[in-house]
Amino acid sequence: MNEPLGVIGAGWVGLVTAACFADLGHDVVVRDVVPERIAELEAGRVSIYEPGLAKLLERNRERVRFTLDLADVFSAARIAFVSVPTPSTYSGEADLSAVWSVLDELPEPSERAILVMKSTVPVGTGEKVRAHLDARGLAHVGYVSNPEFLAEGTAVRDFRQPDRVVIGAFDEADGDAVESVYARIEAPVVRADVASAEMVKLASNAFLATKISFINEIANVCEETGADVAVVAEGMGLDRRIGPLFLRPGIGYSGSCLPKDVAALKQLAGNSGYHFQLLTAVIEVNELQKRRVVGKLAKHLGSLRGKTIALLGLAFKPNTNDMRDAPSLILAPRLLAEGAVVRGWDPVALEEARPLLRGVELCPSLLEAVRDADAAVIVTEWDELRELPSAEVREAMRNPLIVDGRNFLAPDAVRAAGFRYEAIGRVASDLSALPETEETEPELLT
Ligand code: UDX
Ligand code: UDX
Repeated sequence: MNEPLGVIGAGWVGLVTAACFADLGHDVVVRDVVPERIAELEAGRVSIYEPGLAKLLERNRERVRFTLDLADVFSAARIAFVSVPTPSTYSGEADLSAVWSVLDELPEPSERAILVMKSTVPVGTGEKVRAHLDARGLAHVGYVSNPEFLAEGTAVRDFRQPDRVVIGAFDEADGDAVESVYARIEAPVVRADVASAEMVKLASNAFLATKISFINEIANVCEETGADVAVVAEGMGLDRRIGPLFLRPGIGYSGSCLPKDVAALKQLAGNSGYHFQLLTAVIEVNELQKRRVVGKLAKHLGSLRGKTIALLGLAFKPNTNDMRDAPSLILAPRLLAEGAVVRGWDPVALEEARPLLRGVELCPSLLEAVRDADAAVIVTEWDELRELPSAEVREAMRNPLIVDGRNFLAPDAVRAAGFRYEAIGRVASDLSALPETEETEPELLT
């Protein structure tokens, strides 16, 4: 008989965790504090765009129950996963208020219960939670750190085929209990103390961000020296000590996790008296990288005043409607401040983007977004943008210029289609005449 489980916080991580455990045969009680979210989930609606999630929840409808009441979780299950938000405070530290409110609200469970932290928290949080529980006379509530490594857009797959499962426990038996619910997931299990488990998560995200800032700086040097970063990344990535992943240059890392976890780790180090120089640089490089696109547009268009710029892709990455810390939120106000007319297109996140992108004309179709535009910027590498360098788009644009902030397209093919093309760390089109396209030939005949 599968252990019934609880999930506290029905967001990206909470819902994917609940749906995947239910699909493994566990009854799951999911608690959230937002009545609308619980109501929509009970009605079978999922406002989060995550491939495979809605289907999985539908398929396991019998096994997943939603509630606003935390007591329901602990009357049904002894193991509860905590996936409430831990956003950044102004200083970069993680805001743990949602974690503390769960602890304050915790009912007195009748038997031993285990709180399993999935939210990303600073190192040392486990100790503080332990002390808080003991102070409340809840010594029989165990605490386990079990960080998640889900990436949005592939979260269901990442849960089912993780690279590793990390379990940090004060009490060995609690660690064993949590390890047993992962029994049918094939992955190495790292058993650790709580502080080390907490650090695995922060260090992993910080290292991913470091790799991205590194390849972005290499890309910037390539632009100055005429090398092609795509070739460079390929050559680097074949070294098994480096690996090919996370070597895609672009307009910087963003999203709900990397920026906040890097800032939180830097702050954590600072609070412990250690100046984390490397992360300071990683953050600085990333902030500058987000703005390089504006320089590239100005290089081709001169003053941006009165120019129409189409931002293609508004969500922070493809296959999600998550706008948290999305590059479009940085680029749009910058371009508007330069006096440009800004249009935006995204295949799934237009409604999420609307309240966040004031002054931007949001377009339901790609063609409407590029009509009479002076430039199109690939901000998020949605698959649909593979079709961007078409004759139809070229004719619709006032000036067929594509600035590829994700090195998503093949430069030669884009130029052959009659566009000027500028990417990240790749040889740019010259600024003068438009490249000849096959089609232009006929004109010569007249
Ligand atoms: C969360 C954490 O923010 C992140 O640090 C961690 O790495 C993974 O879990 P995510 O699932 O993306 O990330 O958060 P979000 O989508 O914002 O969902 C959090 C849910 O918790 C929301 O549905 C929110 O309503 C709910 N919540 C918020 C609670 O249940 N209790 C609270 O006190 C506050
Ligand atoms: C990340 C981590 O991958 C995941 O393990 C963790 O649990 C949560 O944070 P996510 O934020 O969903 O996941 O996205 P990810 O795919 O990691 O991309 C993060 C950012 O880096 C995005 O802005 C993406 O565009 C950027 N990125 C990623 C690059 O610029 N280049 C790359 O090579 C890879």
